[in-house]
Amino acid sequence: MTPIRFGYVGCGFMAQAVHLPNFTTLPDCEVVALAEVRGELGRRVQAHYRIPKLYSDHHALLADPEIDAVGVSAAFALQGEIARDALLAGKHVFMEKPMAVSLEQADRLLQAVRQSGKRLMVGYMKRYDAGNVLAKETITRYRTSEELGPVTYIRNHGFCGDWVAGRDGTILRSDEPMPPAPVTGPAWLPAEHLSAYIGYLQQYTHNVNLMRWLLDAGDNAHVRIVDLDDDGYTGVVILEIAGVRCILESGRVSHYAWDEHTQVYFRHGWVKVWSPPLLQRNAPARVEIYRGGAEQVFQQPIPPLTWSYRQEAAHFIACLQSGADFGSSAEDTRTDVRLFEEIFRAHLTRRGLL
Ligand SMILES: NC(=O)c1ccc[n+]([C@@H]2O[C@H](COP(=O)([O-])OP(=O)(O)OC[C@H]3O[C@@H](n4cnc5c(N)ncnc54)[C@H](O)[C@@H]3O)[C@@H](O)[C@H]2O)c1
Repeated sequence: MTPIRFGYVGCGFMAQAVHLPNFTTLPDCEVVALAEVRGELGRRVQAHYRIPKLYSDHHALLADPEIDAVGVSAAFALQGEIARDALLAGKHVFMEKPMAVSLEQADRLLQAVRQSGKRLMVGYMKRYDAGNVLAKETITRYRTSEELGPVTYIRNHGFCGDWVAGRDGTILRSDEPMPPAPVTGPAWLPAEHLSAYIGYLQQYTHNVNLMRWLLDAGDNAHVRIVDLDDDGYTGVVILEIAGVRCILESGRVSHYAWDEHTQVYFRHGWVKVWSPPLLQRNAPARVEIYRGGAEQVFQQPIPPLTWSYRQEAAHFIACLQSGADFGSSAEDTRTDVRLFEEIFRAHLTRRGLL
């Protein structure tokens, strides 16, 4: 197959810790250019990865006709604007989550997808984690066979902890000032709650996205009850996803690893996954399957030792080559953006802050 000629925008933390190491070493991907506003940082990253071209911003990179597709990681709201420019410049796009910080921004991106005929994949790496893939296959099998009865409940617990797992030691840094990154949140959201809203959204969008995917729910997801503290972060949210009650527990704990697990209950058993610290390579989610009833069996199948982010990058390139659908498309991700607006609106209303 002809390799995809790839350009990467933004040489910051995620580019260096995750995406450049992956995209530069995939066989079907040729990273031909970088764009970085902070020139000195860009030159150092270019030299480190031996990338042929460096542009001083994304507009310059997008004008390069040699490039088929781009990757983007930057500030939460800015990266959506860069992704939109890239689509309209005729490039396929892989971007970090969140795709957008408001439904209005999400819909402008989706309009750009339709207008350009180019494709946008959003970096929900949990969907490419081999442990989660194994869990989803198991859940789907049991839902089809009905041998454990119906799905009755999902619990997702995410108290965070150490996500870098010692992986940030090699990051090239720079004292150059960051470029401006204006944030326009939802029109209804008072400005004083914008940073709490973005903080909650950017963290738990992963968890909601994962639960929707485990149940193949698509847009069939609704917010039922929201009970968050004044910090707009700690608490519980109850959602109904594909008709199943799902609880999202959010908060923080000092933890040597990453305190996150997801448990999908059936009437007669469960499938449970424990997420690894995100940047830990080749440590997929741990899986437990429990089948109750007459047999009473616990299983802990071992998924292939792969890294979710690398699988994600390989998936993006493979889908561009084959034309297959992305496992985390922009169209699907719109639902997460909608749900987070609904969660925060309910939170502020309940607290009398709206
Ligand atoms: N998937 C995950 O697990 C995960 C984890 C952490 C962060 N993220 C996401 O990654 C994003 C943050 O990425 P980061 O930590 O690499 O950010 P960063 O701030 O470290 O790097 C962004 C870089 O982009 C450059 N930049 C900004 N505008 C530019 C432009 N127009 N053209 C070229 N370069 C430009 C900046 O100078 C900066 O160096 C956030 O959106 C966050 O949600 C995802």
